[in-house]
Amino acid sequence: MEYTVSLVKLHIDERISALRTDALERGIPVADDETLQFLLLTLQLAKPTRILEIGTAVGLSSIAMLQACPTAKLTTIELEEERFMEAKNRFAEFGVIDRVTSYLGDAGEILSMMDGTFDFVFLDGPKAQYEKYLFDLKRLMCDGAVLFADDVLLYGWVSGEEPTPQKRHSIVDKIRSYLQTVTNDPELLTSVLNVGDGVALSVYKKTHKQTENER
Ligand SMILES: C[S@@+](CC[C@H](N)C(=O)[O-])C[C@H]1O[C@@H](n2cnc3c(N)ncnc32)[C@H](O)[C@@H]1O
Repeated sequence: MEYTVSLVKLHIDERISALRTDALERGIPVADDETLQFLLLTLQLAKPTRILEIGTAVGLSSIAMLQACPTAKLTTIELEEERFMEAKNRFAEFGVIDRVTSYLGDAGEILSMMDGTFDFVFLDGPKAQYEKYLFDLKRLMCDGAVLFADDVLLYGWVSGEEPTPQKRHSIVDKIRSYLQTVTNDPELLTSVLNVGDGVALSVYKKTHKQTENER
């Protein structure tokens, strides 16, 4: 199946599309078409070799990323055991299991214990925790790494385009705080894009030295 993002045409495996249909029918949240297309486009530019993903679900985005980067390795974290097990089966089915390290558990706990260096992070787990994860993500990212955070506009609530329902103010505040942090951090170059449900795309410039004006 062929899709178009701006002028770039990307190919998405038909089995991935079928996996998405199946996941959505079962109420499992997976990346929408527009986000997946943009994620794959970003990967074409960044050409990462070590990808970290928070929020595996059933492995759809993991497999798509590994297909887009045939020599890359992926580490991915999922909280729900059933999804984690299904993703493992999918990795075997799609022939990528040798390139995947998957963890079952809370991303915050796992990240705090993790070592390694990653040149691409797909942040797609619990939105309210994005800012908390930043400390460890920065520790795990190399200079020039790309941080791709999904769902940061959350139905237009975060931008204020749509009114936030009463019960969702807390998560909206937390995402706003994440966006404020990544846009103000001198070590992160960030753009917030109206793609899918909103993407915050950051590049980590680890060696940035503060100037007098920034102090
Ligand atoms: C939006 S889905 C991920 C979709 C997947 N990246 C894709 O596009 O195919 C978010 C996932 O994060 C998982 N999750 C929620 N809280 C988590 C936590 N604290 N640690 C790790 N994973 C978590 C959820 O169970 C869910 O499967």
